[in-house]
This record gives sequence, structure tokens and C-alpha cells, in this order.
Amino acid sequence: MKKIFICMFSLIIIHGAIAQENKTIEVNMNKVKLQFMLDADGRPVYSINYGQSPVIKPSHLGIKLQNDSNFDDHFELSGTERKSVDETWNPVWGEVSRIRNHYEQVIVHLKQQSGQKRLLDLVFRVFEDGVGFRYEFPQQPNLKYFVVADELTEFSLTGDHKTFWIPGDYDSNEYPYTISPISKVDASVLAKSATDIAVRFVPDQYGIQTPLMMKTAEGLYINIHEAALKDYTSMQLHVDIKTFKLTTNLVADAMGNKAYMHAPCKTPWRTIIISDKATEILASKMILNLNDPSKIENTSWIRPMKFVGIWWEMQTGKSTWSYSDRPDTLGADGNPIPNGRHGANTANVKRYIDFAAKNGIQGVLVEGWNIGWEDWFGNWKENVFDFAKPYPDFDVKAINDYAASKDVKMIMHNETSGSATSYERQMDTAFRFMNKYGYTSVKTGYVGKIIPRGEHHDGQWMIDHYLRVAEKAAQYHVMLDSHEPVRPTGLQRTYPNWLASEAGRGNEYNAFSNGNNPNHETIMPFTRLMGGPMDYTPGIFKIKGYSDVPGRQVHTTLAKQLALYITMYSPLAMAADLPENYEKRMDAFQFIKDVPVDFEDSKIIEAEPGEYITIARKEKGTGSWYLGAITNENSRNSIIPLDFLDKGKKYVATIYADAADGDWKNNPEAYQISSYTVNTGTKLSLKLANGGGAAVSIKPLTENDKGIKAYK
Ligand code: NOJ
Ligand code: CA
Repeated sequence: MKKIFICMFSLIIIHGAIAQENKTIEVNMNKVKLQFMLDADGRPVYSINYGQSPVIKPSHLGIKLQNDSNFDDHFELSGTERKSVDETWNPVWGEVSRIRNHYEQVIVHLKQQSGQKRLLDLVFRVFEDGVGFRYEFPQQPNLKYFVVADELTEFSLTGDHKTFWIPGDYDSNEYPYTISPISKVDASVLAKSATDIAVRFVPDQYGIQTPLMMKTAEGLYINIHEAALKDYTSMQLHVDIKTFKLTTNLVADAMGNKAYMHAPCKTPWRTIIISDKATEILASKMILNLNDPSKIENTSWIRPMKFVGIWWEMQTGKSTWSYSDRPDTLGADGNPIPNGRHGANTANVKRYIDFAAKNGIQGVLVEGWNIGWEDWFGNWKENVFDFAKPYPDFDVKAINDYAASKDVKMIMHNETSGSATSYERQMDTAFRFMNKYGYTSVKTGYVGKIIPRGEHHDGQWMIDHYLRVAEKAAQYHVMLDSHEPVRPTGLQRTYPNWLASEAGRGNEYNAFSNGNNPNHETIMPFTRLMGGPMDYTPGIFKIKGYSDVPGRQVHTTLAKQLALYITMYSPLAMAADLPENYEKRMDAFQFIKDVPVDFEDSKIIEAEPGEYITIARKEKGTGSWYLGAITNENSRNSIIPLDFLDKGKKYVATIYADAADGDWKNNPEAYQISSYTVNTGTKLSLKLANGGGAAVSIKPLTENDKGIKAYK
């Protein structure tokens, strides 16, 4: 990523003998105040205030090493270093085109008084919207290779906050959110009731995941997560339901260990984002700022895009990933006998390519194109898939020639069924295959128990693996969308080819389970999306009637599906429904055709987790704005001042709204589209149905727009 430093930073180093106990170190940035001290036992303690309100009460920090339980106390302070940073940088893609990185940093140098006299540095960065801190292990004589048995970081909360949580599962984030006071957390209930395809491993009844969103009784919003997760394992939280103290619970490996380290080294950042406005939680760029700049120098090949794909038809049972229902019986041509319902056949793929080309959709994803789907799931076995061997009815060369002739990019699918080892062995072959046939991006998948056996999706081995895949993909100029990985922590800044991941409960749950609650999408931006974009697969138009299971439907209105392209930002955005369902409603599909996937600016207009979100985003280079407004199961009138528009300029707003009698359950597909001229003084009044939403495109007025009435 290109860097423009507007302000140079100052560096003040205060070294030396400040080694007194009980000395309090303070770092402030506007309302956010961090305090640090050593307690009487030489244990590190920190606390955070927001204005006059305590947010994190005095809480311990520390790491427990295997074979050395004494690494969290008997420290003395051997020095501090401070610096101030104020710079801006330009992401390769994103919600905004410039990001300010403004913080005060203190590094606290600690040394153990006795025994091995080990060194530990704590680095705190205090931003206007929160605090990030990490542990650093400097090079030193008595600490080289070491195993982290536990991290002892605490977040001592000030009360029984309202919490939006999912169970602390080492293998999956694919859960609906529970909204409860922190004292009512009980992960076992949900873990037991889960009946879907994801692997589940929830070892702690009081374990929950991050990003964790909370709201205090006084109306303060607090979000806890981590940034730059690499060379370590992921952080979950153990809740003490009586004292409201959260303690780090690191995901273990097959041996029960947490992380393998080699000094000098560091942990990921622990992040606490704080604001008295929910909108500012969504606008926070702290997690991105805590990640390293891009490691990829030439990023010109990285292109955000929209795509359609052979996917929802399998999710809803209309076609299959597998080629045959009788894989052990061979036909006269030496191939297994086709089942006649295989989705990834050449003619069907061409149909999707035609649809994409006709409508300016850049990409086409095809799942089920390669051999292995007959017996892919649940057997914890190696070598399920061959990532370079198409089924006999998928003519990879003809398909890619056809796509190229229509300027459509094919998206590769590499489902590993959890066998990361098998994928690693084939990775170079797989990427060479993509290069040969013109695939510029890949969707990976990790459905199933992980191999190496005993490892978890969110443990250190897999965290290294996902990064190896991102780095390998970059070598081959391929963009990445990972499904079932650990949830993101802002690494897309460092590896901007890692456009999106799933790591959450996507729209697909409406296809094969009881679905997502109508409030789901009002929570996701405050939780899962805090770390990075999600391939949520929005855009389902046929809300009912795609499944034989009685009552199964998408839990939103059609207009809300449109609004999700704005409220759940992703540089890789699927138009997930079938072409035939779009073709019946091309007037509504126009919004999907228009909506960009890369923005100059974003305004979070109003938001309340679990209730509603309204966001407007400005397209790069055109001056057009796109707005999405969504609500939970309750209807809502949203009043939106368009004061972000350029003064003195006229625009045409096209509003895609729920019908007056719209309702996610009883009348979800009814919508109305209307166009008006608007300007910076206009106040839009949008009526959102129960479980509904509205999407609005606001484009500069042109000569072709004669006769459009002014908005009143
Ligand atoms: C689960 C993924 O989330 C989904 O998108 C994909 O179609 C299936 N796995 C098969 O790989
Ligand atoms: Ca999934």
C-alpha cells in the first residue's frame, strides 16, 4: 500500500532508571486514557477510562510459559519509550481511500528481578477510539524457543453489559448471535443445539469469541478483538459470569499447547475499541492501523469485484457438486456414471458467463468442477480432492476461452474438506493450473475436521496455513476468499490479495438450516466484520419457495438483500441468486449492477447493534453515492439527511424500498422503486418493513434525467 505521511511523527525516548514499583504510566488520546503499573508482586496491571467512565478496571497482563510458571510476576520496570504518530495511508481497496493512523505509543520494558531475569516488553497504542496492546519478547540470553501454555490477559469489565456473543468454538464461527447480559453467557446451550455441517468444538461452557460487542448501561459501546494474528494462535475469551472479568482463552493445538515462539517475537495486538456512539465503532480503522502495510509491492492486479456463480443451486438442492451418485461403478467411457444433476457442466457454466457478461458482473464462481465430491465430507481423510482435475463434463479450456472472449473472470474453487495437508502438497500445482486457465481468484474451503489431525481451524498451525495460502496466492497473482478460516484480524492490509473470508454464519444458512435471524445482519458489522470483509453472499431475490422444507426461507425482505451490499462491505461481493431469478426482476437487479465494491468514502449515518444500520458510501471516481439501510424484525422509519452530498450539485436518487405492505415473513418479495432529484438539503424518509431494508443509488444528475421530480 502506498503511504503518504502528512505529519511526521515525533519520537521521545525516556530510558533508564525509572524502576520504581507502583509508578503509574499514563497515555492519553482525547477521551481514551490508559494507565499501567506493576502491582506489589511485580505483576503488570492496566486499566482504561473513556472520559470519566472506567471501561476496563485494573486487569492483569501476563504469559504463562510451559516449564516456567513464573513469567507473569516479579517484574520490575526498566524503562519506557514513547512516541506519537499521525500519518495517513491509502488502502488498495476498501470503505475509504485514505486512513488516518493517529496514536500515542508507550513501550514498557520489564525485567524479572530474580531467577532467569527474563525480559518482556508491553507495547500500548492509544488511539482516539480505543487501545491496542501486545506482548513483545526481546532477544535475550534466557529465552529463545518457548511454548506459550497460556496467556493471562484480563479485561475486567465494569458491569453486566449487554453482549452480542457466539460460543468459544475452536473450529467455527458459524453461529447465530445471542444478545444477553454477560452474566447469562452459556456457550454449551448453543453448541449442543447446533445441527449443521460445521465442525464444533466448544471446550469451555463460559467461552465466547471475538470480535465481542458490548454495550454498557450508560450507553458506552465496547468492542474487544485482536489485530494482526500471525505466528500465534487465536484469542477467545473466558467469562467470569459473577465478576464480569474476561480472561484470554487461547485456542490449543493437538498437544494442548497454545503457541510456539522464537524470540525475538511478539503476540498479535489485543484491541479494545470504545465509543459513546455505535456509528464510531463501525467507522473505526484501529484494527487496520495496527496491521503492517502491504507486503505486496505491485498491487495493480488486485481488483475488487462482483460475481455470480454455480453455487446457490447446489445449496438449495437444485443441482449437485458431485458428478455421480454411483462413484464406484464406471460407465463405458471409463468415467463414473453421471447423475444428470451435476451443476458444473460446461453448458450451465456458459449460461452464467453470459449472464455476467450481459450485466457487467466481473466474475463467475463454479463449485463442484473438480473430482472428489462424491465422498468429500465427514470422513477425516487425506487426498479427497484433486485441484487440477476437472470432471468429464467441465471443459476447463473451452470455458475459460469463452469467459475470456466475454471479458469475464472465472473464480476457482478449492474445497479442502479440512485436509490442509493435502492442499499444501498440491498448492503449487493448483495455482499453476489457475494461471494456465486464467483464474484470477480462488475461493478456498475448510469444511470438516482439520488434518493435521487434532489441529483446529483457529489454532496456530492453521493460522500459519491460511497465511501460507495468501502468500502463495500473491506469488501467482491470485486473489483469495477463504471459507471456514479463523476470523479476520485486519491482515488484509498486509496481504491485500486476501479480499474476503467467510468465518461467520453466511446467508447460506437460509438454504440448509433454520436460517439467520432477522437481526443477524444488524449484528455482524459490529462483530464478525470488525476484523475484515465477509463473503456473506447477499442478493437472494427468491426469498421463499427455493426449498422443499416447509417454512424455510430467507429471513429478510428482497430490498434488505440489496441494502446488504452497502451495510456489509466486501470487495468481493456475490450476487448469489440464480440468473433466472434475477431475470424476472431486472429493475431491482439494477442496484446490484450499479453498486460498487471499492469506495472513496463512507458515512455511518445511524447504527445500533441488533437493531438497525444505515450507511452511505461514495464510489471512487464518479461522485455517486450508494446507501443501505436495514432493520431487525421491527419495522422502522429512517430519516436520512443527505448532507454528505456536494453543495450546489443536483443528483438523482433511485430508491429500492420495501412495498408498503412488505414484511420479511409474509410479503418479503414486494418492493417499490422510485427516482427523484435530490441535493445536500434533502432529507430522505425511508420506511423499512419488519426485517426489511432500503437501498438507494444517488448519482449526479445528467442531461438524460429530464422530467424526474424533486424529492419531497
Ligand atoms: C461451505 C461454504 O461456506 C460454501 O460456500 C461452499 O459452497 C461449501 N462449503 C462447499 O465447499
Ligand atoms: Ca461455511
